Amino acid sequence: MTTARDVLLDWLRNAHAMEIHGEEMLKSQVRRIEHYPQLRERVERHLVETREQQAMLAQCLKQLGAEPSAFKELGARFAALGQSLFQVASADEVVKGAITTSAFEHMEITVYRTLAAAAKAAGEHDIERICATILPQEQAMAAWLDEHLPELVEQYMARVELPDVSAKR
Ligand SMILES: [Fe+2]
Repeated sequence: MTTARDVLLDWLRNAHAMEIHGEEMLKSQVRRIEHYPQLRERVERHLVETREQQAMLAQCLKQLGAEPSAFKELGARFAALGQSLFQVASADEVVKGAITTSAFEHMEITVYRTLAAAAKAAGEHDIERICATILPQEQAMAAWLDEHLPELVEQYMARVELPDVSAKR
């Protein structure tokens, strides 16, 4: 019989893998962004948060009795996928990167809302509290990107038209 706890465990494993993927995505952006210091600084801050989130999720998994090796392997697969997606350099990569990150953050918001509800239903209140800690971090990152996207696009468009100036990153 599948229990509410089994479902929660499965979803926590997926969230952990998602954060490993997120780390790869953000790391690649921090490495590549050159001419958009505000964006790089914000992405760097969220990279730190993402690593902390991974640790919190690992703690939740341990609490439910999961073997760390079982979720590390899944994470590694997601990370490999992330690298292959984000190594692609295009002329407008800074804008594409912002779109991808924004979409990813909005997905994360939904995932943590789902996890919080699942934790509540399973009676795992510590895990519910951890989701409530992570959720506002994802919301803040998504809101920042939403707010700064028009400005980023303006900067990009202005740089594109300048001779001898690199716009792409
Ligand atoms: Fe995030």
